[in-house]
Amino acid sequence: MSFSFSQENSIKIASLLNRYPHKKALILPLLWFAQKQESYISEDAIGHISEFLDVPYMHIYSVVTFYTMFRLTKPQKRVIEVCATLSCELNGSEDIKAYLDENYSKDFEVIEVECMGACSGAPMCAIDGKYHENLTTKTIDEVLK
Ligand code: FES
Repeated sequence: MSFSFSQENSIKIASLLNRYPHKKALILPLLWFAQKQESYISEDAIGHISEFLDVPYMHIYSVVTFYTMFRLTKPQKRVIEVCATLSCELNGSEDIKAYLDENYSKDFEVIEVECMGACSGAPMCAIDGKYHENLTTKTIDEVLK
């Protein structure tokens, strides 16, 4: 199995290349493109990004494993990422996670992640990468319908 970016992603990457003085700055954007394209980051994708950016494989791998939002295995279900960092926790993310576990774990993989940069909308989650903010157990039902 080999990995290559889709034509759509290749166009986006080409435009990003002009923005940065060093290709290495594209590690995170390329990892996001790879994960959106395949729903996880495969070893082949890491190898492809490593070659494309001329950065050692282990460096790319260390970035993937540092951030909780990157997945190294293909999810078996659709994914709900619930932020469990301070702003979200103080605004009820624990209750949201418990509610999701109890009512939606059959159809979704519910995971806790670190801050996703949407603290002003706490508590929040991402469903297949799309952000949903100011959640309550009622609004999460509406979102998931
Ligand atoms: S603390 Fe939840 S998005 Fe920042």
